Amino acid sequence: MTKTIFITGTSSGLGKLTALHFAKRGWNVAATMRTPEKESELTAYDNIKIFKLDVTDVQQVQIATEQAITAFRKIDVVVNNAGAGSYGPLEFAEESTIDWQFALNVRGPINVIRGFLPHFRANKGGMFINISSFMGVLSAVPTGSLYNMSKFALEGLTEGLYYELKPLNIELRLIEQGGSKGNNFLNSVVFNTHPEIRDYDGVVGKVNAMFSGVTEDALDDPQAIVDAIHALATGESQKFRTLLGQAGNDLMALRNAVPIEEYLAKIALNFA
Ligand SMILES: NC(=O)c1ccc[n+]([C@@H]2O[C@H](COP(=O)([O-])OP(=O)(O)OC[C@H]3O[C@@H](n4cnc5c(N)ncnc54)[C@H](OP(=O)(O)O)[C@@H]3O)[C@@H](O)[C@H]2O)c1
Repeated sequence: MTKTIFITGTSSGLGKLTALHFAKRGWNVAATMRTPEKESELTAYDNIKIFKLDVTDVQQVQIATEQAITAFRKIDVVVNNAGAGSYGPLEFAEESTIDWQFALNVRGPINVIRGFLPHFRANKGGMFINISSFMGVLSAVPTGSLYNMSKFALEGLTEGLYYELKPLNIELRLIEQGGSKGNNFLNSVVFNTHPEIRDYDGVVGKVNAMFSGVTEDALDDPQAIVDAIHALATGESQKFRTLLGQAGNDLMALRNAVPIEEYLAKIALNFA
């Protein structure tokens, strides 16, 4: 029987690539996005159905999950991909930015998981693949604390849920990616700034220089991430955590090799 994958945030980047990848391999795809009226690429595929979904809106999650289940009858895999980041000193962040970061990267996956649990229980199985980051398992960049917080929370949520869903045959998986080519991530970053306070200028300048020095060539191939999602969805890989990309793996090797105090001091030195 044809399998069906439900994906959040398919208007660009990894979400769109994942939708296309699975559709081309014969899966049914429930591709969700905030503005379906703008989509022109995914609409070309008969086995992709597009549903409107802002993951922070519980009512929309309810509607989109019902629509997808009605359209395809059975959803096998749900990918919590929608996400974005805020950067800049925590002190400067607007209250609304802090709430947004949590609402999108943490509350969003919670909403979608809760939306699908009745369906997965009825089917006696299913899989959630949560798109995290290496920033979900370690810190690597100053001024990224809110994004770090959100992805660490997603990791904790996923690991914590493992125990209650395992007996129901509902699987949980984490993809931890680094920066990859061809997405809108850096364009959608929310920067926290202040018109007068200059105390953070040194570190902010170094972070900005690092981001602006990142060339497309230095970024990872997103197909490797899509392939990893495919391996998880098909059961070819049963890894709970899949950490992808040179940068994340190098940082993780360092993080595991030395005490946390040494790791933090070493990273801080890069921005001193
Ligand atoms: N690119 C990186 O450097 C990087 C590194 C590590 C992890 N990640 C993670 O990878 C995932 C995919 O990001 P990407 O790299 O593909 O970036 P992207 O191209 O910016 O894609 C993000 C997607 O999330 C959607 N989105 C934003 N707010 C939403 C909301 N409230 N409800 C539903 N969808 C929403 C965006 O849709 P709109 O068009 O409507 O804004 C877009 O489709 C994210 O979870 C991100 O945190 C990315």
